[in-house]
Amino acid sequence: MAINWFPGHMHKARKEIKKVMPQMDLIIEVLDARLPFSSENPLVPSLRGDTPMIKVLNKRDLADPDVTTQWQAWLEKERGVKAVTLTHNQRSEATEILRLAAAMVPHHDRQKSALRVMILGIPNVGKSTLINTLAGRPAAKTGNEPAVTRAQQAIKLPHNILLYDTPGFLWPKLSPEACGYRLAISGAIRSAVIEFEDVALFAADYLLDAYEDQVLARYGIDERPADGLALMDAIAARRRFFRRGGVPDLHKVAEVLLNELRAGKLGRISLETPAIIGQEISAIRENS
Ligand code: G4P
Repeated sequence: MAINWFPGHMHKARKEIKKVMPQMDLIIEVLDARLPFSSENPLVPSLRGDTPMIKVLNKRDLADPDVTTQWQAWLEKERGVKAVTLTHNQRSEATEILRLAAAMVPHHDRQKSALRVMILGIPNVGKSTLINTLAGRPAAKTGNEPAVTRAQQAIKLPHNILLYDTPGFLWPKLSPEACGYRLAISGAIRSAVIEFEDVALFAADYLLDAYEDQVLARYGIDERPADGLALMDAIAARRRFFRRGGVPDLHKVAEVLLNELRAGKLGRISLETPAIIGQEISAIRENS
């Protein structure tokens, strides 16, 4: 899917993160538990060096718990990385992340100086919600502006931790293409810039493959449709979404399917697994 990954301000933000990151004691990256690979910032592995990192799989309440467990193990294969899961309104679990942060930098004397922590995350992943929970007040100020990692914007947290917020950008993820679709399904890409029906068709194909029972139960469909398009037609028929002349209104189906999926109305659904990503990456390697 064509996404304009590189607006000019992103270059500026990248440069700034590159400059500030070496001064950090630890990095927290907030990921969407439904798509931990697609929602990762692909620049971090090369920029972080030896700095320890906590990956927070947020929106756990929307993701398939078994798949989330697989992702935790997968993410922790990377050196210096701990992966935890989270859902909003869990203040004690959120503050546990601060204790983990302190434990991951054992030689740092927090009596002498604050632990400097950078927080990253794509738009809509729940980064502001987490920051506000950690701070115990509305503290997240990040807009879509570069130059927000300045020292004066650091947020004071308990345990003598200073949190450096960064703008929530969608970073260029070179491959696989399917990552763009998953980001769009999750709502990370604004509806105005995506092909709604195209994204819903990707979702319909995937749901039929991976969560057949859940999707058929949600829309009261008895027989398995042949493919994603047939599923969308079946949803149109069940919900009576027709244009003039009895033509299925696929735009309306797309809107409803994506909104209900995002709201968790189809149950807890993960949009990718380590196995799927492994296959996609192998296919890209073979083709190149
Ligand atoms: P951002 O800073 O990363 O852009 O994200 P933000 O915290 O603004 O959260 C984006 C949306 O995700 C918000 O919903 C927020 O309530 C929701 N959210 C955050 N954490 C979780 C979670 O763990 N589970 C679920 N299900 N949702 C979560 P919104 O509809 O945009 O706003 P609102 O209705 O909460 O006001």
